[in-house]
Amino acid sequence: MLGQAAARLDVPLTVLDPMPGCPAATTALRHEVGSFTDYDAVIAAGSRADVVTVEIEHVDTAALAELARRGVAVHPSAQTLAVVNDKLAQRRRLAEAGVPGPRFMELSGSQDAEKFDLPAVQKLRYGGYDGRGVALVDRIDHTGVLPLSGPSYLEEKLEVASELAVLVARSGDGRVVTYPPFEMVMDPELHLVSAVKYPAGISSAVALEASRIARAAVEAVGGVGVHAVELFVVDDHSVLVNEIAPRPHNSGHLTIEASETDQFEQHLRAVLGLPLGSTRMRSPAVMRNLVGSGAEGSACYMGTDAVLSTEGAHLHLYGKRTSRAGRKMGHITVCREDLEDAAAAAARAAAAVRVTGDDAGESGGTNG
Ligand SMILES: Nc1ncnc2c1ncn2[C@@H]1O[C@H](COP(=O)(O)OP(=O)(O)OP(=O)(O)O)[C@@H](O)[C@H]1O
Ligand SMILES: [Mg+2]
Repeated sequence: MLGQAAARLDVPLTVLDPMPGCPAATTALRHEVGSFTDYDAVIAAGSRADVVTVEIEHVDTAALAELARRGVAVHPSAQTLAVVNDKLAQRRRLAEAGVPGPRFMELSGSQDAEKFDLPAVQKLRYGGYDGRGVALVDRIDHTGVLPLSGPSYLEEKLEVASELAVLVARSGDGRVVTYPPFEMVMDPELHLVSAVKYPAGISSAVALEASRIARAAVEAVGGVGVHAVELFVVDDHSVLVNEIAPRPHNSGHLTIEASETDQFEQHLRAVLGLPLGSTRMRSPAVMRNLVGSGAEGSACYMGTDAVLSTEGAHLHLYGKRTSRAGRKMGHITVCREDLEDAAAAAARAAAAVRVTGDDAGESGGTNG
């Protein structure tokens, strides 16, 4: 989707991705096959560029720092990514900047947990996404063993009234625009977003506070580009930061149809130093992910006619060759005058679609 925005603006893009034929390669001028966690591959791909950016944060940051030293504009910077990628360092940085968040405590041994009020949430410091790396701790049994192993910390378990995401776009010279908050409806079991609603069902006071805090959070980590700040609303009025995603985000996919400037173009504008675009809402909208189910294999889409024949619905299939249970394979956005109407239509359309792996293997996938 970043590549589609780049193509529109005639920005010649080089993509670094380990998989030949990866979705981003279809929109790029060049595809370097290599891993973004490999120092040499990042240096090789990045040293020919004027500007380097990321759309996944788990990148070799030492290589990004070296590219910056050689004069390549790297946004967001290696320093920003290093802080954000360590969730505990991120929490500390936000707390130092006075940005509100849940109470937290580093864990160095299992007995530390006894000093913290339960129930609590244990989080891995590194590498978590889509709810992996997050576990609820109700009680600690006699073994003292916590659910997750690896460097981690505890934070207070909040009674969350709703979860919001605020997209903040910041340019290298400090210009900032924010989008109105989106509401993330979470699957309580999987800790995964099941739908995103825009506008969020919150008061204008909460919306204002959410925007203020999100902006402060991105400034605290020196972020440049689009960042999504995930927020908790507790007690219906106070707003706390959950975490920052230093890139365009799943919660912002609906900006493609529902906003004056979509998050991907906005990200490019910010990292290229162009004027930032309007964040005005064009329509209420609801987004749902299309997630793989069943067998792993060549992606096979069924029931997409239901989306294509729904008023106001927009189908996005990412072109990932392999479908796996739980893998995000696409999304749909439904724009309607009435938000609840959009939510019902999006739920119906998404329920009609099934993305699964066709065991037949190398057929390359079918659209049906
Ligand atoms: N302190 C907390 N209190 C209550 N619920 C929480 C807390 N921390 C996290 N959660 C729940 O778990 C979800 C996932 O947590 P978090 O965003 O930290 O993990 P993640 O793996 O980075 O997720 P993702 O990649 O989906 O953003 C949150 O969206 C929220 O629903
Ligand atoms: Mg999260």
